[in-house]
Amino acid sequence: MTRHMLVIGIGAGDPDDLTLNAVKALNRADVFLILTKGDEKRELTDLRREILTRHVTRPHRLVEIRDPERDRTAPAYADAVADWRSRRADLIAAAIRDEVSPDGCGAFLVWGDPALYDSTIAVIEDVLARGTVTFDWSVIPGISSVAALAAAHRVSLTRVGRPVQITTGRLVSDNGLPPDVDDVVVMLDGRTAFTTVPGDTEIFWGAYVGTPDEILIAGRVADVADAIIAARAEARWRKGWIMDTYLMRRGTPAPPP
Ligand SMILES: C[S@@+](CC[C@H](N)C(=O)[O-])C[C@H]1O[C@@H](n2cnc3c(N)ncnc32)[C@H](O)[C@@H]1O
Repeated sequence: MTRHMLVIGIGAGDPDDLTLNAVKALNRADVFLILTKGDEKRELTDLRREILTRHVTRPHRLVEIRDPERDRTAPAYADAVADWRSRRADLIAAAIRDEVSPDGCGAFLVWGDPALYDSTIAVIEDVLARGTVTFDWSVIPGISSVAALAAAHRVSLTRVGRPVQITTGRLVSDNGLPPDVDDVVVMLDGRTAFTTVPGDTEIFWGAYVGTPDEILIAGRVADVADAIIAARAEARWRKGWIMDTYLMRRGTPAPPP
């Protein structure tokens, strides 16, 4: 008799991007634990509910868990993060113990793919390390916003024999493009980091990719940065929030003589 927890990637906005394995996993779970943040957009929670309504054919329950707030003003940053992780692990351990029966199956629905800028896997490791609740667990991959972006622009992320780096807007605006990688995917960008790179860099930008609000813009940064800034500001004003991701590509360096 073992409790099982599933971490299911649900795609980055298009309910049709659910994989067949994800649908099978959804139909194994008795309880869905949905972690919501204070600033979580209602639309994102609604999409999860829509996915359950469309695809789950057996009785199930949905439990929303409010992620504890992190004290971003604390002077001791590392202590504040450790404290927040520990409160969150306590809360989730309690939810698993109280909501998922000892021989039952619970699931976390994770936006995009659980392996990209998502904390669910780390949370589960924290919960298991505390030893207050026991379970097996597995991860079902999802279509990430990065995969959805590349497909929408019909580009490959990798050029022949070359690496790609996935990073955050903060790192690019603080440090610029990495010196040794010419293809860079930027996520979590609240700062329009593309405005800090050389104008001849190519950019493939997408917001709300896979949803009816999808916006795609591509070109040289010097030519399209203003259009992206304007589209971003307009969409953010209209919807109240924005999620955007982009690939930046430096020109191919000349081959050695
Ligand atoms: C917390 S991360 C989660 C990433 C997610 N696990 C994934 O696989 O896409 C949130 C970031 O993902 C990107 N993102 C998620 N969904 C998106 C979408 N539909 N369109 C564009 N970017 C998206 C944005 O860069 C956003 O800031």
